Formats: sequence, C-alpha cells, structure tokens
Amino acid sequence: MSELSRIGVAIEGDLLADFDAYLEKHHYPSRSEAFRDLIRDALATDPGPDERTEVVGTVTLVYSHSTRHLGDRITALQHDHHACIVSTMHVHLDHDDCLEVVVVRGRAGKVRELADALIAMKGVRQGRLFLSPAQPHETAPSETR
Ligand code: NI
Repeated sequence: MSELSRIGVAIEGDLLADFDAYLEKHHYPSRSEAFRDLIRDALATDPGPDERTEVVGTVTLVYSHSTRHLGDRITALQHDHHACIVSTMHVHLDHDDCLEVVVVRGRAGKVRELADALIAMKGVRQGRLFLSPAQPHETAPSETR
C-alpha cells in the first residue's frame, strides 16, 4: 500500500450534510473511508482511456414520462445507437415515473457516447452507467494451449 496523502476538499454545507447521513446509514467509521470507497467505485466503473475496448454494461435511467416528449426522445436516441444496444427494459414505477435499464455492448467510446447523451437528457432525473470488459477472463497469449 502506498503512503497516505492528505487533501482538502471544498464542499457545500447541504451536500456535506447529505454525505454525513450517507456515512451513518452505511456505518462508515470516517469520512475518509467513505471518500476512498467512492473514488474506487468511480475509477472501477470508468471505461478507461482506451475507447476501443469491448465492454458490456447497463445504462439505468429514472425519469418522468410526463416531461414533454421525453419518452419519445429517449426511444429515438436508442434507435440512433441501436448497434450497441442489446435490450431495453422499461418499468412504469407509478403514474408519472419510469425506470429504464438499457443493456449495452460494444466499444467503450460508443457506449459512453450513448450513456452520456441519455443521462444528460433534460428531464432525466437520475442516470448511471455500469461497464465491464466484455472478456474479463481472457487468457494472455502465452497461456493459451
Ligand atoms: Ni413508463
């Protein structure tokens, strides 16, 4: 393990209060431990610098379908990127809200482009991209028989 470094973080009071509530809920012993976990999580789910890596994953969206034309715009965007979409599951959460999970597969760069466009869409309340290498257990050439 490398040496610990101390850093200062400027954060709004409201956000810090929410963060502290999160620590308590998840029984974190300190802000530092929770901060490290969040950083590791962010780094682990980042597609990395190589946009050509083949990945699989999901884009999860929560939005209100009563937002003007949002459902249609989300569908149209998925048709534009159909080559990297395996399947889409839509759940009507209640009268207004929808949960959509888009299963994606393809080059990290293309998948990221689709996810960014969906998540950034006006009216999408929450969005999250999860990515994993398409062949995580691929053996090195010297190990093949
Ligand atoms: Ni719905």
